[in-house]
This record gives sequence, structure tokens and C-alpha cells, in this order.
Amino acid sequence: MFKSKISGLGYYVPENVVTNDDLSKVMDTNHEWIVERTGIHERRHKKLEEDTTSGMGVKAARIAMERAGVEAKDIDFVVFATLSPDYYFPGPGVLLQRELGLNTVAALDIRAQCSGFIYALSIADQYIKTGMYKNVLVVGSEVHSAGLDMTTRGRGVSVIFGDGAGAAVLTRSENENQGILSTHIHSQGEHAEELALIAPGMGGRWVTDILEDNNPDDISYTPYMNGQFVFKNAVVRFSEVINEGLEANNLGVEDIDMLIPHQANLRISQYIQHKFGLPDDKVFNNIQKYGNTTAASIPIALTEAWEAGKIKEGDLVVLAAFGSGFTWGSVMLRW
Ligand code: ACO
Repeated sequence: MFKSKISGLGYYVPENVVTNDDLSKVMDTNHEWIVERTGIHERRHKKLEEDTTSGMGVKAARIAMERAGVEAKDIDFVVFATLSPDYYFPGPGVLLQRELGLNTVAALDIRAQCSGFIYALSIADQYIKTGMYKNVLVVGSEVHSAGLDMTTRGRGVSVIFGDGAGAAVLTRSENENQGILSTHIHSQGEHAEELALIAPGMGGRWVTDILEDNNPDDISYTPYMNGQFVFKNAVVRFSEVINEGLEANNLGVEDIDMLIPHQANLRISQYIQHKFGLPDDKVFNNIQKYGNTTAASIPIALTEAWEAGKIKEGDLVVLAAFGSGFTWGSVMLRW
């Protein structure tokens, strides 16, 4: 069995900054409410035509590949996580494969929302472990801004989400002691509709149904979130899956050097931090600047933490996520 390690990281966010005050001009909300409930001060909304989900993924991937010292010909497989694909089909994985000029390698799209990047890393890790692939490009990218209800009706959701992309090159590790130690992924479809965007869907309401109905009160094509229910489930599942990873490796909370939680809500991160008794310098948050970027949040945060010198060789880094599905998961890695 081989081990996989992250050999390069990159992220990209659109230049266009949207502050809480900007939002309060188009909906009934205010800076204090948003900061108190979510910790978010600003987020990015795309302006450039090229900043599609796949387009931003390409920008992040180019940085990660350069840092990993790999070229297009070296990539064996693409795993692309998103809930906001450019097209209904095909998924953004093949668009990125085309744009980067990769060989005719497989491109797999992951639909696990906020847990997407953890799911993607887990899958990439399995292929490297078995020896099938040597370099896998793992991408998380989201354009939320195009699909949000930017009126007071949608404020409970719209203030939370932002656009951005992050990428990692996962490579066969030459060092037995360095790389991914374990991944654990879960789902519970029982709560699928508690955090969902249900239309258009081939099995439910399709675009033609929405157009025919022409109902101004129809909100089925904007995201719905039962915020308090999500919050309560998130804090339980985050804790469970972090403990699951620690136990699988005979490690304890005291061994954690850096926890990078999916940036769902600063209050969720703080709850987890306090539950595990971790000091501020062992938990990385950047939701204040970018909002919740779903599948992109962990690779963006991981890249920023690494760029800031907060992750050093030999560190135990824990990645954990919870999100729509419900889905959740963790990755333990030795840097
Ligand atoms: N600005 C001002 N007022 C608002 C806003 C807003 N943006 N949104 C909602 N309100 C109002 C509501 O209308 C409500 O008013 P009412 O009391 O007159 O009915 C009041 O504020 C309270 O609304 P709640 O939805 O009950 O607010 P809550 O305290 O639950 O906070 C929040 C909402 C932030 C979404 C919270 O439930 C939460 O943190 N949930 C966790 C879910 C989460 O973070 N999801 C992130 C994405 S999912 C993921 O990544 C896992």
C-alpha cells in the first residue's frame, strides 16, 4: 500500500468584495446581525465572465500544480467537487480537463456539497494507495452568487455563501511517515431536504414547469436551509467524525496541530474548538473574509494556513466537514 500526500495547494477568489453593508442595500439585513450569527464580514461574488465554477477551479489548479512541480501530462485523474456546476451536465471535471490540456484522464464530479472536498480527497487517496495513480488533481469550486435569492426573502441563506475555488495535487508519498493517515466519510439522506436546492430536477420540477407556473412566490430554485436544524446536526457530526479519525490512528486531541473545519459558520467552528479544548492557534478560520464557499472552503483555508506558515512538516492536520445531504467527513494527515 502506498501513502498519498498533498504536494501542492492553490486557491482563487474573485476580486469583487461584497460587504455586509453592500447586502443591506438590497435586502433587510445589517452588519451586526450577520457578524453575530455567522462571523462573516465580507464574501466574494464573481464579476468576470471567465470565473465560472470550472474556470475558477482551473485558476486554483494551475497554482497547485506549479507548487507541486507537476505538468498537465503528469496528472492521472481529476476529482472535482461542487454543488454549483457550470452545466447541468457534463460536470465541471471535464471542462477543467479540457482547459488544462490534461491527457484523456478520468474526471469525476463529486456531489457532496460542503463535504465535497473531503469526499474528493478520500477518493483520490484510495486510487493512490492502491498504486493505480501517482498524481491526482483534487478541486473544490463554487459560484454561489448566481443562484442566491438576493432579496429579503432569501436573506437567511444569501448572506452566508460566497464564491471561490481551491485545489490540491495529491501525490504518492515517498516518505512512509508523511501524508494522509485516514479518511472517514458519511451520509444521512433522511435530512436531504433540510439544506437543499430542489429545482430544477429531472425527477421533480424541471425548468419548463417553473416557467409554466410563472409563480412569483416559487422559491424552489433558490437554496433552502433549516438553519437551526443544520447547526445542531453539524456540531454533533463534526465532533463524531473528528473523534473517529483520531481513534482510528490511536491519536488524541492533544496531538492535533491544526484543525481546518469547513467554513460553514464561525459559531460552528468556535463550538467545535471549545468542545475539543483547542487553543486559537490550532484552529484556522477565514470565513470572515470569504463566507461559506462550500466545497472550496477547506482547500482555500488549507492553502491560506500553509501560505501563512501555520502548518509545518510533521504537523498533524485535521480537516473536517459537514453539509447538505447530510454528508460529513474527516481527513487526518501528517504534513
Ligand atoms: N439579517 C437579518 N435578519 C435575519 C437574517 C439576516 N440575514 N436572516 C434571518 N433573519 C431573521 C429571521 O427572519 C428571524 O426573524 P424573526 O425572529 O422575526 O422570525 C430572525 O432573524 C432569526 O432567524 P433564525 O433563522 O432563527 O436565526 P438563527 O439565529 O438561527 O441564525 C443562521 C440563522 C445563521 C443560519 C443559523 O441558524 C445558523 O448558524 N445555522 C447553521 C447553519 C449554517 O451555518 N449553515 C451554513 C451553511 S450549511 C453548511 O455549510 C453546513
